[in-house]
Amino acid sequence: MKHILPCICLFAALLTTACTENRSAAPTLDEVFATRRSIRDYQAGKTISEAEVRELLTATQNAPSWANQQPSKYYVAISEEKRAAVLELIGGNKDRVINAPVFLISTYERGKSGFFRGQPVDSTGDLWGAYDNGLSNAYLILKARAMGFDTLIMGMRDADALRALFNIPEDETILPVIALGYRAQDPTTPVHRPLDEVLRFF
Ligand SMILES: Cc1cc2nc3c(=O)[nH]c(=O)nc-3n(C[C@H](O)[C@H](O)[C@H](O)COP(=O)(O)O)c2cc1C
Repeated sequence: MKHILPCICLFAALLTTACTENRSAAPTLDEVFATRRSIRDYQAGKTISEAEVRELLTATQNAPSWANQQPSKYYVAISEEKRAAVLELIGGNKDRVINAPVFLISTYERGKSGFFRGQPVDSTGDLWGAYDNGLSNAYLILKARAMGFDTLIMGMRDADALRALFNIPEDETILPVIALGYRAQDPTTPVHRPLDEVLRFF
């Protein structure tokens, strides 16, 4: 009988250790920054679910925007038909992202951010919408990395053809297509400008 208690304690300790090891810890923000890279080769045959895309885009809803106008929108090519069609509209990027299971076409509605009662509040005008879309996309690519995914922002794309393919309204500006998938390469970190070249304290 006196051996039962130590046995239970040992079993509980082993169980705790096993559970802890199985749970993959969420990466820290610095780990996300350090491991997020533009990925130009993706694992074939891997899929990403609509639920995972929803989780990813939920994160973008926390992004700040001009007067909370939230002008960013996303058109998600997840069906094989639309995915294949997008591949033909991204020029030389096609070979880089041919195995990415999802493409997100990011747009912003013009005349919202930077506007009050239909008039631009300053000379920045609709550039505030583009700014907001960039912020939203930054949240997207960082959240993607935190979820174990990888991305490539692609400015090289045929905006007119994408508009027709996804029936995107004329009052939306189409910014990049973002490939989403699982990396099949070990990317190198590009050279970054020295901080003191781009930073001034006063
Ligand atoms: C607005 C924008 C457009 C881009 N367009 C492309 C593109 O069409 N094709 C591509 O391979 N990379 C593209 N990139 C990725 C950049 O080349 C990449 O972010 C940069 O070289 C820094 O590398 P990193 O993302 O790995 O840090 C684009 C990035 C941004 C922000």
